[in-house]
Amino acid sequence: MKRVLIDTDPGVDDALALIYAFKSPEIKVEAITTVNGNVNLETASHNLLIILNLLNLTEFPVIAKGEAQPLVKPLIDAKDVHGEDGLGNTRELMTSKGELKYDIAECQFSELSADDVILEMIDTYPYELIIVALGPLTNLSKAIQKDISCFRKVQSVYLMGGVFTEYGNITTNAEFNVFVDPHAAHEVFNAGIPIHIAPLDVTHQVELTGDRLKEELIGREDIISQFISDSTHAIMTFYQENVGFYGFHIHDALPIAMLNHPELFMSVDAHVQVETEGELTSGMTVADLRKPTVTDSNAIVYVEVDADSFLETYFKTILS
Ligand code: BDR
Ligand code: CA
Repeated sequence: MKRVLIDTDPGVDDALALIYAFKSPEIKVEAITTVNGNVNLETASHNLLIILNLLNLTEFPVIAKGEAQPLVKPLIDAKDVHGEDGLGNTRELMTSKGELKYDIAECQFSELSADDVILEMIDTYPYELIIVALGPLTNLSKAIQKDISCFRKVQSVYLMGGVFTEYGNITTNAEFNVFVDPHAAHEVFNAGIPIHIAPLDVTHQVELTGDRLKEELIGREDIISQFISDSTHAIMTFYQENVGFYGFHIHDALPIAMLNHPELFMSVDAHVQVETEGELTSGMTVADLRKPTVTDSNAIVYVEVDADSFLETYFKTILS
């Protein structure tokens, strides 16, 4: 069983990744930290409580709020993709009894900030704790700035971010999480820790269509199925209008699958750097993936996934 801390900015695909992590027998979620990204920090933190409430947990993980701003760049969000509330405009849905359909869990945020919780968890489980980062890397960089020797005792960081061989999803060259805080990504990539990257190159290989989702959820009345159905409508409409298919990419679930089912992926060792300043290229991740035997590798970049098997195992796990 893998002990995991998840750093996240929920986000529809973050929600689907969190559900997957909690339902995975291979994983024990010890802590969750929130960061600004798809929505601001307060909304992301509120959304985490909504997601935790869906899961019917007997024991909550430690949860902590993190950074409300990127290290240097001005704040942006992705409400156009994820809805005004970050969860596909589900926040105000009511039941027939006049109650909130998706209420929040009664779980208190730690008094510690995310960077302190990250360091404390690494200290508690040295060389064992795995960090899964699903948003901008601001919290991780703050922890590195505070105590790099402690941070280096992390077993590894699995992150969704970057793009190498195709276009970005926020600018031509950049993927959203790295674009939001490239200075933080720069610190993480240069911290001297084992890093596993799920870039857009691999997350784009999994197209979760509206038809597939309908097929998987048909006849199901449970709250998780209802939430998935309700929360994905807005993002799939965005994709239909902007990307060309009614569906979406389930980006943030991929790092969880890399932990659970590494056999579904192909990866290469690479030396990855981030452009922090470029007028046109801010947030661009730069690596030559044609040289799988680099001697100065700082990351394992995942480049191929068996998309059918991933979707099969994903739905089997979350709907069990
Ligand atoms: C990443 O950006 C966010 O919108 C998603 O949640 C994911 O983490 C994809 O570029
Ligand atoms: Ca995310």
